[in-house]
Amino acid sequence: MKNKVVILGSLNVDTTLHVANMPLPGETITAQSKTSSPGGKGANQAVAAARSNAEASFIGQVGADDSGKMMIKCMKNNNINADNINVVEDQGTGSAVILLDGNGQNSIMVYGGANQSIGSEVIEQAHSLIANADFIIAQFETPQERTLEAFKIAKENGVKTILNPAPAATIIPELLNYTDLIVPNETESGSLTGIEVTDVASMDANAAKFAEMGAKNIIITVGDKGAYYSANGTHGFVPAFKVDAVDTTAAGDTFIGALSSQLNQDFGNIEDALIYAQKASSITVQSMGALPSIPTAEKINETYK
Ligand code: RIB
Repeated sequence: MKNKVVILGSLNVDTTLHVANMPLPGETITAQSKTSSPGGKGANQAVAAARSNAEASFIGQVGADDSGKMMIKCMKNNNINADNINVVEDQGTGSAVILLDGNGQNSIMVYGGANQSIGSEVIEQAHSLIANADFIIAQFETPQERTLEAFKIAKENGVKTILNPAPAATIIPELLNYTDLIVPNETESGSLTGIEVTDVASMDANAAKFAEMGAKNIIITVGDKGAYYSANGTHGFVPAFKVDAVDTTAAGDTFIGALSSQLNQDFGNIEDALIYAQKASSITVQSMGALPSIPTAEKINETYK
């Protein structure tokens, strides 16, 4: 049976400037080329879930502009239910400028636009969609107050909640009481717990701190090193697949979306789901762009047969 996954999140149009090296403060540099593609952490996670055969639905907001039309079309083209993407007149669709250097590392600047002004009515309109899902995922590119409202609906209806606290920001503490699984990277984890992630012992300490703060299950992604998990009394660290990365944009988003397509609601298969998610993100980093580089289940299974 396919997992029913609802993604509450951002829809951005990404402009990537390809540079040899990152500019220093005050420096002007010339980009070698410029590309544009659909993106946004929410959109990327939804596409990763859908391409791994989850039944994905999106809750979000765009402006009444060409970018907004393009993002809605992109969601529909990826078999994502876009009925709960709201269109507003007074804000533009979100956008991001990505600097990508010759080593495949990036720096991202995001203009939130319509993502940032999602109202409570958008969540309320999606009440039955949330209540009937297996999982709901949210990030920090849309208002945390709306995530809290959505997670409350989820918890009242036995739906598991996954929080990706990215980009790093101050969290509404109450949100963690409604979070079943938190998936930060090592920097985000350290900034929320105050415990720097340096090794597995520090990840155990981060997991314990999050449990104390309300979130009982955790996965910490550590870039090309691998991912740590602690759930249902089990914990471990799984090394990443070694590949040559050309663009790491959306690697974390691919991981979370792919994970949600495989995970059992009791998290009993968390290690297997995590390994599948690592396979997916290892493919994403080997081609350019955010959303276009996210693999299908067929591609993942063919690559790692
Ligand atoms: O995680 C990658 C994403 O972050 C990009 O697609 C960009 O839009 C920003 O939201």
